[in-house]
Amino acid sequence: MQKLKILLASSEVVPFAKTGGLADVAGALPKALRALGHDVRIVMPRYYIIDKEQFALKHLEGELGVPMGSMGEIWAGVFEGVMPGTDIPVYFIDHEGMFGRKGLYEENGYSFPDNDNRFAFLSKAVFQLAKKLHFKPDIIHANDWHTAAIPVLLNTRFAKDDIFNGTASILTIHNLQHQGHFYEGLMNVLEVPWEEFNPLSLESWGGVNLMKGGIAHADMVTTVSPTYAKEIQTSEFGWGLENHVHGHNKKLVGIINGIDYDEWSPEIDPFIPQPYNAADLSGKALAKQALQKHFNLPQRNDIPLIGFVGRLATQKGIELIAHIMGGMLHLDIQFVLLGTGESWAEHFFTDVAAKYPNKFATHIGYSNKLAHQIEAASDYFLMPSIFEPCGLNQIYSLCYGTLPIVRATGGLDDTIENYDPETGQGTGFKFEWATGDALYGTVKWAVEAWFNKPEHIEAMKKRAMLERFGWEDSARDYEKVYYYALGKRRG
Ligand code: ADP
Ligand code: GLC
Repeated sequence: MQKLKILLASSEVVPFAKTGGLADVAGALPKALRALGHDVRIVMPRYYIIDKEQFALKHLEGELGVPMGSMGEIWAGVFEGVMPGTDIPVYFIDHEGMFGRKGLYEENGYSFPDNDNRFAFLSKAVFQLAKKLHFKPDIIHANDWHTAAIPVLLNTRFAKDDIFNGTASILTIHNLQHQGHFYEGLMNVLEVPWEEFNPLSLESWGGVNLMKGGIAHADMVTTVSPTYAKEIQTSEFGWGLENHVHGHNKKLVGIINGIDYDEWSPEIDPFIPQPYNAADLSGKALAKQALQKHFNLPQRNDIPLIGFVGRLATQKGIELIAHIMGGMLHLDIQFVLLGTGESWAEHFFTDVAAKYPNKFATHIGYSNKLAHQIEAASDYFLMPSIFEPCGLNQIYSLCYGTLPIVRATGGLDDTIENYDPETGQGTGFKFEWATGDALYGTVKWAVEAWFNKPEHIEAMKKRAMLERFGWEDSARDYEKVYYYALGKRRG
């Protein structure tokens, strides 16, 4: 098979800028595609939090003229770097007015009012960059609403450019809750024909919905787990786009995310006191002690430690956790929570930590180091998401021998096998209904198993650690999608 030229566009990419799992995926998938021999390149904004020196970014000669319709032409700089440890080029679109801010999408809890223009700018810059580099892409791979305009632009505004004839577009939906829904004036900035302002394409409730347009125009649409691919065709998970998605389901594929074992592996984790693996878990016990010390929790190895890491958002089931907090803390456990997000939740968990200093500790903030330490130290990982397109933390947990307690939705359902008390099989604990009772019952079940069936828990930890969620298989699935999309385009 012919090796492909792939341009992957994302609003966030590890290790340069991250707010969630999108960045992990946009950082790891290209490496796996490169290992398959493809010429893959990444485009993202140059936020001002990205350190030019640290990543040895070079300024590309000349400027990029980005046509922005009613806003006129806007000139961008381009910095070039590489994905650390690889030869994968990463291009950073630089414009102070658009990206010269601390936050990626918001500051102090408020979304930037010009996010429509900022990401229309990024999406268009991808095309101008390809032209400048004389890079004729076989595939442009867009991710989430921020770059969902790309498939629309490819079929309209840039359709006549020779360099893009024969280019196919892929849109990956990482989270359908966020669709990029804006005022119709964005049509004039996008410069796509007004025929596209119809409910089968960009139009939605009188405004422009970028995700909707992207789904309509992409040659193939993927989402990040097989179960989520089914769920988003239902009213419970479709956020109003279920019929639209369903109408395009012939080109919809669910591909589970892998994890980057260079970043997440207890055998090489620089943040934990001593490496460990499935054959010898003594390093895990040390990690538990160290975390208890860090949080001033009693040094106890005779009770289970439960961890949570994630955005404090409704998606993650934080209302359910808050609801059962009192009951849960009467169980013989310790609980550590790391996260930022909704301010009620930040205050709530801070208050609970003050009331139960021997049982519950929290760090409200973002800390990659602590995220690793919690994954390693915990016996159980709590992830009662209301919906979860894929979820990475439960997979990191498996790898660290930390058994996930999850709601059976999306990628959580696809990656965790429920405990069977008869046989001791399974890799975690699952519940169906998004209720406090169901969550509490499942936490209690897991805690009781910890005390009453230690041999099952030990075996489950080891089983979980030996599972593999590498990117190799998923990258091969993306490869198939790319070839299929190209076949559709080129006949
Ligand atoms: P989502 O993308 O919906 O937030 P994922 O499970 O796919 O959920 O990915 C979340 C990623 O963000 C994980 O790598 C997780 O470790 C990280 N993360 C989330 N919140 C924090 C935090 N407060 N500190 C450090 N890492 C965090
Ligand atoms: C989104 C989803 C999460 C997924 C991540 C990476 O942020 O919420 O479930 O793991 O994207 O695909």
